[in-house]
Amino acid sequence: MAESITITDNRTGDSIEIPIVNGGVSAAEWTKLLPGLWFFDAGLVSTAMCESAITYLDGEAGILRYRGYPIEQLAEKSSYLEVAYLLIHGELPTTEQYESWKHEITYHTFIHENVRKRFLEGFHYDAHPMGMLVSAVAALSTFYLDAKDIFNPESRYKQIIRLIAKMPTLAGAAHRFSVGMPFVYPDNSLDFTANFLSMMWKVAEPRFEANPVLAKALDVLFILHADHEQNCSTTAMRVVGSSHADPYSACAAASAALYGPRHGGANEAVIRMLTEIGSIENVPAFIESVKAGHGRLQGFGHRVYKSYDPRAKIIKRTADEVFEVTGKNPLLDIALKLEDIALSDEYFVSRRLYPNVDFYSGLIYQAMGFPMEMFPVLFAIPRTSGWLAHWQELLDQDSKIVRPRQLYVGAEPRDYVAMAAR
Ligand code: ACO
Repeated sequence: MAESITITDNRTGDSIEIPIVNGGVSAAEWTKLLPGLWFFDAGLVSTAMCESAITYLDGEAGILRYRGYPIEQLAEKSSYLEVAYLLIHGELPTTEQYESWKHEITYHTFIHENVRKRFLEGFHYDAHPMGMLVSAVAALSTFYLDAKDIFNPESRYKQIIRLIAKMPTLAGAAHRFSVGMPFVYPDNSLDFTANFLSMMWKVAEPRFEANPVLAKALDVLFILHADHEQNCSTTAMRVVGSSHADPYSACAAASAALYGPRHGGANEAVIRMLTEIGSIENVPAFIESVKAGHGRLQGFGHRVYKSYDPRAKIIKRTADEVFEVTGKNPLLDIALKLEDIALSDEYFVSRRLYPNVDFYSGLIYQAMGFPMEMFPVLFAIPRTSGWLAHWQELLDQDSKIVRPRQLYVGAEPRDYVAMAAR
């Protein structure tokens, strides 16, 4: 076999030839020769946990496709709701399918009054909106008891619609509460993104009219963030989903994973870094300090992309359109200078560190008026469709419960010592 590896067990001299399929070898094959032997792979860097037909990512070539469609084409020609349909169904919708999908999502945007009154309003006045979102998504499972019926296609689909539809409402509610503003009910005459902006910013006007350029820019950002194959939060979704928990509980776990600064919080770290640098003149010294090991260049580098993140290219263009409306974010010049120097510096070039999706997204969000605490929330809204596509796929695959092995490095057996004798 040309595309194969041979494993030899030197203890017995036995060997086995295993085909390389899609760039990997199957554990089911090598365990035939080495039963009971396992691989140590902290962070699952070299382990494919599942098969997936949703997103294709080639980090070497900088390629990202949802269901086969290049991200560049989707960002230019599609809308977030259409992309959400594509992720969930595997195909782009016909006009009729799209109208029905849009109608369903639009008419499920309302949340139960008790989610708001008894639950969201019970938070402390300075609660972080992402903490509120994580908890509110988990709380939804107590409102939809049919969600436990995960192998009933009708019930499953209903929860998918509810989650995609209610995420912006919960996000808007979390923001309004955290700044002491009254809750804004969804306006079903608006499209998905404009409706979210209304729930964020509406004050006394009868109908909030979002600036179409800003609404479109946010929609593009939603498309870019909708899925990214087996990232930390999607893996959390699959891990919890594999225990057959309801989708709200699994989505809450995924949102919690997204809350961490290494994942959904990186664009906030970029803004803090740019603010700290303060001016273009300080950029070279900052780069030198990073190279000397004092911190990282936030928004640079990626576990999978070893070339320019294709999403960062699109976001850079979107930023120009947004700044035409909002005025330029004063931190942009510092970001451009940082990118310029880093891309020609041996340290970054040799490690293949390029701007990732977070390098420019925070600048856009900030220019649009979103507080930094909302950045991970803005990520969670569109990623919900990706999480649910993976959850559905996992259930259809009838996959095993996720239960990895560990490398035990603890104490040898020892006898219990009474407290008085310790
Ligand atoms: N700035 C400076 N040096 C870096 C950076 C960076 N941003 N990222 C990696 N390096 C260096 C490391 O110091 C290491 O150098 P060494 O070989 O001399 O020790 C080398 O590059 C490899 O780094 P690792 O940490 O092994 O790379 P890994 O793939 O584990 O990390 C990560 C990827 C976490 C994204 C990293 O690049 C990073 O911390 N970036 C900054 C934070 C960030 O932007 N996160 C957003 C990721 S995208 C997302 O979640 C949506």
